[in-house]
Amino acid sequence: MASDDRNGEQAAGRVFEPSPEFSAAAHIGSMEQYRGLHQRSLEDPEGFWREVSDEFEWSRPWTVLNEWNEPFTKWFVDGELNITVNCLDRHIDAGYGDRIAYHWEGEPGDTRPITYAELLAEVCAFANGLRELGLEKGDRVILYMPMIPELPVAMLACARLGIVHSVIFGGFSADAIRDRVNDAGARAVICTDGSWRRGKVIPLKENVDNALADNACPTVEEVIVFQRCEDEINFEDGRDIWWHDLVAGKPETCDPVMVPAEHPLYVLYTSGTTGKPKGVVHATGGYMVYTALTSKWIFDLKDDDVYWCTADIGWVTGHSYIVYGILANGVTSVMYEGAPDFPDFGRLWEIVDRYDVTVFYTAPTAVRAFIKWGDEWPAKHDLSSLRLLGSVGEPINPEVWLWYHRVIGGERCPIVDTWWQTETGGIMITPFPGAIATKPGSATLPFPGIEPDVVDEQGNSVGANERGLLIVRRPWPGMIRGIYQEGWGQPGHPGEFGERDRFVSTYFEKIAGVYLAGDAVTRDEDGYYWIIGRIDDVLNVSGHRLGTAELESSLVEHPAVAEAAVIGFPDDLTGEAVAAFVTLRGGFAAGDDLQLELRNHIGNQIGRFARPKMLRFTSALPKTRSGKIMRRLLKEIATSGEVTGDTTTLEDIGAIAALRGDDEE
Ligand code: WTA
Repeated sequence: MASDDRNGEQAAGRVFEPSPEFSAAAHIGSMEQYRGLHQRSLEDPEGFWREVSDEFEWSRPWTVLNEWNEPFTKWFVDGELNITVNCLDRHIDAGYGDRIAYHWEGEPGDTRPITYAELLAEVCAFANGLRELGLEKGDRVILYMPMIPELPVAMLACARLGIVHSVIFGGFSADAIRDRVNDAGARAVICTDGSWRRGKVIPLKENVDNALADNACPTVEEVIVFQRCEDEINFEDGRDIWWHDLVAGKPETCDPVMVPAEHPLYVLYTSGTTGKPKGVVHATGGYMVYTALTSKWIFDLKDDDVYWCTADIGWVTGHSYIVYGILANGVTSVMYEGAPDFPDFGRLWEIVDRYDVTVFYTAPTAVRAFIKWGDEWPAKHDLSSLRLLGSVGEPINPEVWLWYHRVIGGERCPIVDTWWQTETGGIMITPFPGAIATKPGSATLPFPGIEPDVVDEQGNSVGANERGLLIVRRPWPGMIRGIYQEGWGQPGHPGEFGERDRFVSTYFEKIAGVYLAGDAVTRDEDGYYWIIGRIDDVLNVSGHRLGTAELESSLVEHPAVAEAAVIGFPDDLTGEAVAAFVTLRGGFAAGDDLQLELRNHIGNQIGRFARPKMLRFTSALPKTRSGKIMRRLLKEIATSGEVTGDTTTLEDIGAIAALRGDDEE
């Protein structure tokens, strides 16, 4: 069995059935029910999605479920709605205005509960501010903020007006901001003065200033700044405006702008195989329905749950499962601003204990850190409120799964290992916690509406336990609508469908007519999916997607660097780590100083989390006859430790390749 080698000894062959108590109370409580739903969703999509979507408020109900003009899809095609009405007003109208939307906790220890009614009031006041600035439906606005309530407020205020938001993860630096602002043609940037990280202030506003310097982002008219850290910042008159000044005196009601279901809700940039990040476009109606339904069934959300997803809203997990999908269900969440190890390793467990968190969703890289920090930290706190655990972002090692189950879940909580991507909008392959028996390391079975398969390079399905490519055979409501480009959605404009060729070649070309996820996978005899990892030049460092090409182009921008190759290699904590191989321009000498400088260069240009763990100098990069860098060889060098010691110059790398007669095409 192909999955055997990835199963730890303890985990091998173990199957965890949902407990009868959990199943009895769950939305979906048996395998039979799951199978029935999945089958119906494929055989009668109209009926299935009608029932689901009827729970929401549409200003104009849809009559056409979907269109599929391969590779472009539309869902709830002629429907109209506003997503914030469904995430906020609807719950308030139903009498739940006093329910907490977010128990927010700042890193320094400040806390703030915010109810659904308060959230709506803030969203409306801020939306009125945006409107006063002349921002309107279809405009793009960049959000570069830490995990504070004002981030969802800003997102929802945009959505209230049909403005398309694009959140940039607060760990990115100036270059990354500049590229994204310009690609989106953003009219405004919303940021904070800074953010707290392990007791220090990260200067977010300064990063924005650097990104916009020298008129590098000519479309930006305003920068709206929320004061979080009270550090001194540069303030540019005529461009910069304080959040508190903008909302002062603004009414706390604001009529929602109804938009077609296909109106873009947001653009979220993600790394691809070229240097330029892809602006993944998600559309309002399909995304709402898909994230809401997946939230409800996979996290088994009930009125009295306290749900906590530890992701940052700067990534898709936060968009779908901290903001839209969760608010659409009207449940209470926890939102935490800072680092998990500040002031000590018990911070997250103290929060679980304090708020009686019931559902906890995190990434394997975090669980590996918890294991390293030691069992004594969770043991200090009462975690008995937890009833369900989740995992996302990378494959979870079976041994790590078992630890999570035993130490955090007290052996009573099911674990949902959820496979999905920025492009899929929501979870695609996952256990249903009350229905599907889990096997540590497997994301198990597809969500209703999803028809995945495992195929070879020619597109033929492969047999049980054979390694293949993960594909999806038909579109689903949360699916990516395209890669953003100026002119998006304007009929006749060259950018009507975004970067069309890139979209086709990335997802729909290698195997014609089906969505190619870019992951390698096996499927066992029970139909369970076991995700292996990316098949392209995309790295997954601590669950953060990084394109090698993006890192390489940043390196060659440095005056000392002639050529650079970046690869990923396994790391116990971060899953994958970055290794960079660099050749220098004449006149520059390899050495510790330059090595540090180059690592910091990536930190400053792209973000600290992208800094290479290993950086090596070499006189030449190994290449094939056609000039392609032989990444496999570099990977071997980084992995095997064949050449270790951080400062050694790798003089003979080309020679190694020549000796071995390597030539990969
Ligand atoms: C990986 C994050 C194994 C996968 C939501 C995918 C996973 C990429 C899992 C998308 C999982 C995500 N098991 N691998 N449960 N979830 N991945 O766009 O390689 O940041 O293609 O979306 O993460 O990363 P992205």
